[in-house]
Order: sequence, then C-alpha cells, then structure tokens
Amino acid sequence: MSQKIKVGIIGTGNISTYHMSGYNRLNDKCEVTAICDIDENKVKSYAEKYSINSYYTDYRKMLANHKLDAVSVCTWNSEHKNAVIAALNSKANVICEKPMAINSLEAAEMQKAAEENNKLLMMGFVRRFGNDAEILKNFIDNGSLGDIYYAKATYLRRNGCPGGWFKDISYSGGGPLIDLGVHVMDLVRYLANNPNPISVFGATYNNLGLNRAVGSKGYTVEDDSRFKFNVEDLAVAMIKFDNGLTLFVEASFNLNIKQDTNVIELFGTKGGAKIDPKIEFYMDMNGRFVDITPHGDTALSFTGLFESEIEHFVDCVINKTPCRATGKDGIILMKMIDAIYKSAKEGREVLIDS
Ligand SMILES: NC(=O)c1ccc[n+]([C@@H]2O[C@H](COP(=O)([O-])OP(=O)(O)OC[C@H]3O[C@@H](n4cnc5c(N)ncnc54)[C@H](O)[C@@H]3O)[C@@H](O)[C@H]2O)c1
Repeated sequence: MSQKIKVGIIGTGNISTYHMSGYNRLNDKCEVTAICDIDENKVKSYAEKYSINSYYTDYRKMLANHKLDAVSVCTWNSEHKNAVIAALNSKANVICEKPMAINSLEAAEMQKAAEENNKLLMMGFVRRFGNDAEILKNFIDNGSLGDIYYAKATYLRRNGCPGGWFKDISYSGGGPLIDLGVHVMDLVRYLANNPNPISVFGATYNNLGLNRAVGSKGYTVEDDSRFKFNVEDLAVAMIKFDNGLTLFVEASFNLNIKQDTNVIELFGTKGGAKIDPKIEFYMDMNGRFVDITPHGDTALSFTGLFESEIEHFVDCVINKTPCRATGKDGIILMKMIDAIYKSAKEGREVLIDS
C-alpha cells in the first residue's frame, strides 16, 4: 500500500489521545482523517487541537462518509460492540480498547463480524507491547523458567476508582476485574504462550466503593449524575488453564491495603520471575539460590507504550503482519471475566468452554 491509510477514531476521551499520538508518529504511513464522539464540544475541540477537518457525533455517518482503512474504538465499554461491528461492516480494520466488550457473547459477535468482512479486529491489550513484557517473554521463550505452572497477577488500588462511567456497570460491564484485572490476566496468558482457561473460582466484594472518595487520585474520567456506583471494589479469582497453569488474580478500585500494588509473578520448573515494577529472576544455580536482576531499565515504561501498540496495528493493516493481540484473545479474556463474575455470584467453581 503506497498511499497513507485513512484512520478514524470513535470516542475522543482520555485514552484516544494515546492512539492519536501513535498515529501522528507514523504520519508517513497513516492519517487520522475523521473522529467521532457523542459529546459535540469534546469532539470539536479535539478536532481543533489535532487539526482534523471532519468530526462527527454519530459514527455511522462518519463511517458512511469516509472510506476508512482503520478505526480505533475508544468509547466506554458498553459501546464497543456496536461501534466495532459498524466499523468492520464498513470494511475498516479495527483496534478495540480493552476490555473487548461487556461480556463474551458480545465479543463473539464482534469477532464474527471481523471474519465475515475479512478484516482485522485487534485488541488493545497494551501490556503485550510493554518493554517489560518483551524482555520477560524473551527469557521465557528461551526456556529460562522451564514450564510455568503457577502465576500471580495483582493489580490493587487503595483508592483508585476512575469514577464516571467506570463505576456504573451498565456502561463498564463491571469494576476492577474487567478494567484492571483484564490487563494482568491477559499479560500472564500472553507470557505463558496463550493457554486456554478451563475453570475459575472467584469472589467479588463491594464493601468500600460507596463510602470512599471516587477517583481521588490517579486515572479519572468526567463524572455526572447519569453514572451510578454499582460495580465491585475488589475481585479475586483462581483460574485453571488447559496446560496445567493456575493463575491467582486480584484487582481492586478500593481496598484497605497499605499502598497500590501492581505485581506479576511467574513460577516455573527451572525458575521464577517477578515484575514489581522491575524484572527479577529467582532460580538455583550450582545448588545455590540466586536472584538475578537484568541490567538496564526493565520497569514498564509508559513512554512509547501505546505508540508500539499502534505501530503494530498499522503494520498488521498495511503488511498483513500476524496480529499479537487478536479478537480471539479478547473473547477468551471475556469468557474468563464472565466466569469469575458468575462464580462470585453462585459461590462455586465455573467451567469455561473453549
Ligand atoms: N489500555 C489502557 O491502558 C486503557 C486505559 C484507560 C482506558 N482504557 C479503555 O479505553 C476506553 C475509553 O476509556 P477512557 O478512559 O478514554 O474514557 P473517557 O470517558 O475518557 O472516553 C470515552 C469517550 O467515549 C465517548 N463515547 C461513548 N459512547 C460513544 C459513542 N456511541 N460514539 C462516540 N463516542 C462515544 C464518550 O463521550 C467519551 O468521550 C475504555 O474501554 C477503557 O476501558 C484503556
């Protein structure tokens, strides 16, 4: 493809600005030609800020008026399904922000639309594009840890609900599990070579959310009286995979923990590894326990993170490079999330069909 590809963005809130800077960096390959948000003031000032000529409040009009090659869907979660399917049906390739949808049935419909239109549906699993993931995956793929059979994924915030639509299940589909847990569950699955989940046992709590300040620090979005607070503030789960891996995950918006904690731990037959926030390895050498810290900066860097994800998406669209974060991966994550919420509700283990 010698001409620049034409890109559209649906949902011009916080995260879309990271997609925008990813596309701007690749301005020899692509151009954002149209954007859409239901909030007219927001989309108008975004268009002015980024010098984009065409802006819309209805993505169907945008998709009909522009022959877009690629679309970023950055709306709140409950709009992902309709926006992604409309974009795919307009023959655009799509990158959809995480989580894929609000449940796995919606996710399956989205993937079906991608297959029927023969277009790419990539998931915005941005942690797969982190410098830390790249380093750790390289060690794992070279056999440094042996077979990984246990992992822990922790994404706990003491007081960090982003507020707005994130706290309202009808817009978000859930709380910290679907918002934060999805990142770390997907990262472990990616590092462990994408095994399929077979069962979960989960629990969710909503003990603090209504009493704690919402979004008092960290990531926040616009709030108004439309949005109710009705998501969990803590989710924990044990997930079993078809390759024998067991993953323990915990994710919170509100929790009486000393400080926010974001840790990934992997335990294999030859060694263990941890991201907290830097990468460390633990193993036996010559009959002695050693811990190894790779030189250089191995902590997740946000600089260039979304840019790498967008670069991969554009590369997949232009060069048909195999996609590193597919719609099928998105469905699997949604099945895990559905099963955890079901298990929490019913108080029993829930099996997952692959
Ligand atoms: N990858 C990450 O690390 C990461 C981080 C934060 C958010 N996200 C994801 O990005 C998405 C957006 O989150 P955000 O923080 O930018 O939220 P936000 O509230 O800042 O932006 C969402 C925007 O979508 C718009 N919108 C809603 N329905 C629409 C529709 N039908 N058509 C057009 N626009 C519509 C809203 O008006 C709003 O401007 C969510 O799915 C969220 O989970 C991902």
